[in-house]
Amino acid sequence: MEGNRNPGLLAVSVGVGLAILFALLGVTSVLEGRIAFGLAVVSLGVAALIYVFYSRGNAVTKTGYAALIITIAVGLILPFLLVAQQQTQANAQSALYDLTLQRGASLFGQYCATCHGYQGQGLNGPRLNNNPAISKLTDEDLTRIISGGIANPNDPSKLLMPAWLDTYGGSLTQDDINYLVTLIRSSDPKYTASKGLAKTNGFSYVYATLINATQQADFKTQEKGGSKPPANQFVDETAQKTVTIDAVDSTTNSSGYDWQIAGGTLPNITIKAGTTVVWDNKSTGGIPHSVVSGSGGTPNNKFPTSPIFAPGGSYTYTFNTPGEYPYYCGVHPAMVGWISVQ
Ligand code: HEC
Repeated sequence: MEGNRNPGLLAVSVGVGLAILFALLGVTSVLEGRIAFGLAVVSLGVAALIYVFYSRGNAVTKTGYAALIITIAVGLILPFLLVAQQQTQANAQSALYDLTLQRGASLFGQYCATCHGYQGQGLNGPRLNNNPAISKLTDEDLTRIISGGIANPNDPSKLLMPAWLDTYGGSLTQDDINYLVTLIRSSDPKYTASKGLAKTNGFSYVYATLINATQQADFKTQEKGGSKPPANQFVDETAQKTVTIDAVDSTTNSSGYDWQIAGGTLPNITIKAGTTVVWDNKSTGGIPHSVVSGSGGTPNNKFPTSPIFAPGGSYTYTFNTPGEYPYYCGVHPAMVGWISVQ
């Protein structure tokens, strides 16, 4: 019996065995699914042909079948190798894209987060994480803005944002800026979908790239909905029953305006519960302002939003509950301040 075993049947057993093996490798993700499936099909196909080959009698038919087997085996393997190679290329490309996002995130945490927020949520600088206004810009616009910085329209000798490209005196190379543009773009789902890119929002990598403990702590604070300025940036008004904060013209704030306590320069105060805060509009040119409870351009509704008030107008609110109350101007979200109620 042993010696008479039909080689065709043997081939079928081996073919089925191989197919099962490849299927298992595919299921356990040792091999990429499509590749495993392709290999399984090829094994079965070749085994079936060898079976047919051995079940035919004369030498001429056998030679014909042998040629057919070889042709079909090669024919099956070629497209399949091509797919495998394309797959390898696509994998390499998506790994490269991911690496670019991580580099962008690391640069962002280092150079941009202080003004734009660690998650690009916006602080003194505008929101960059999935901001519709930024989505309208082309990649070239974004590259140009980051490379060259932004001048203050009220005082062109001062920059609202410095130039970042090394040839303009910045600290970043052209590659660095490309990584940052890719990072900012990755936060716009419409953009990534249109380019067939992975859905990863690169800003989600920023925390992992921070190696500085202070930055990590800042990140955590911002994540909780605000970044309280350091103690030396607060004016102690705990002895007052009423405190006035003015909206004034500014050459340093991106919006051209700042909040400042009357007679001072800072927008942050510490007060006792029961103290009334009056916001005045002292800016020129008829520019209106409003007061919104919250930070990063996002309201938290801890106190009511004011109506918009023109120069000469004001808004008054009495803080009866101790807590932390960041606020900003609804018209100029870059005008920010902080009220700490004790
Ligand atoms: C010193 C604070 C500061 C830093 C640091 C900073 N920016 Fe800015 N950025 C600003 C301000 C302020 C504006 C808004 C200027 C304006 O009102 O037009 C701005 C605007 C932008 C804009 C244009 C937004 C728009 O709506 O057109 C982009 C893009 C940008 N920054 C990217 C970056 C990147 C990338 C980095 C890090 C390399 C960075 N910024 C670092 C302050 C900063």
